[in-house]
Amino acid sequence: MTSYTVGSFLRGARCAVGVYSRTLGGRMSRHYCSSGPDVVVERLTGEHEGVTVFGFSRPAAKNAISQNLLKEFEAAINSVQHDRTVRVVLLRSLVPGVFCAGADLKERAKMKSEDVGPFVAKARACISNLEALPMPVIVALDGAALGGGLEMALACDLRVAADNAKLGLVETKLAIIPGAGGTQRLPRVVGAAKAKELIFTAAVLNGKEAEEIGLVNYVAPQNEAGDAAYHRSLELAKKILPNGPVGVKMAKVAISRGMEVDLSTGLSIEEACYAQVIPTKDRIEGLTAFREKRTPKYKGE
Ligand code: COA
Repeated sequence: MTSYTVGSFLRGARCAVGVYSRTLGGRMSRHYCSSGPDVVVERLTGEHEGVTVFGFSRPAAKNAISQNLLKEFEAAINSVQHDRTVRVVLLRSLVPGVFCAGADLKERAKMKSEDVGPFVAKARACISNLEALPMPVIVALDGAALGGGLEMALACDLRVAADNAKLGLVETKLAIIPGAGGTQRLPRVVGAAKAKELIFTAAVLNGKEAEEIGLVNYVAPQNEAGDAAYHRSLELAKKILPNGPVGVKMAKVAISRGMEVDLSTGLSIEEACYAQVIPTKDRIEGLTAFREKRTPKYKGE
């Protein structure tokens, strides 16, 4: 097991309270009581080697986004940004029943009005950094993802929800608007009319309803442990892992950038991305393995 905590780098003593427990496939995972870090970073091993999991762990506030959680999340993102051994990032919650309750409303209530804008701008920038990660990012929604929690999920490449998840941009209920990318990313995922309906009415959808409108890629029946979406996300990650890492990254760039521009500019972006895979050793390995009728072994080079 290679598990470490971003919080440990940031807050030293706070990370001392860790309890190890067994998870999938017998790997050891670190879970924390409320005095531990808010974001736990775990590099999986064995058949999931190449997957790094960010686990939100702020049970007392249902993983609400406080200044501290945001700082640790930013550090987690930075820690994988240039790491070529990280093939897939998976976001999950280590708190049962909830992914993230959005902005920390208790902290927000104490904030001066002039500090709200800059904090929201920080959250918006952090979530954009998540979106800009070069490797695929999957989010497992095993519970409520409301407000900023869903905005985080919208910046991921693939979303998987449990059928009992509660998903919604509920900000207008609080007389505000989604401020960490929600007004921009939701319509890009489900279309403008549906996004307007959901945001105007502060609707909360379950996993099945979310899948029906294309808000999530998959819905999984919740299990007793409450981590069905996490398991389904791992299955998805396992299908990405054997593929050429540079190809996967370039496909992400081509799709993400291409969707923001007209078709002919998008095709130029595709051409530029294709040019990046032509000189790779992995491309030659793919052709050689085909000829030799064996499974290719890609190194991301
Ligand atoms: N900010 C700060 N604290 C929060 C919070 C938030 N966004 N969401 C929940 N909490 C706290 C609660 O105040 C409560 O603390 P307490 O024990 O000191 O009273 C604790 O987390 C448990 O919350 P509770 O509502 O009892 O849990 P639940 O399992 O019944 O419901 C949610 C979970 C997430 C569905 C519910 O808490 C909720 O709707 N939260 C607000 C979501 C929201 O509006 N977010 C802002 C979007 S802009």
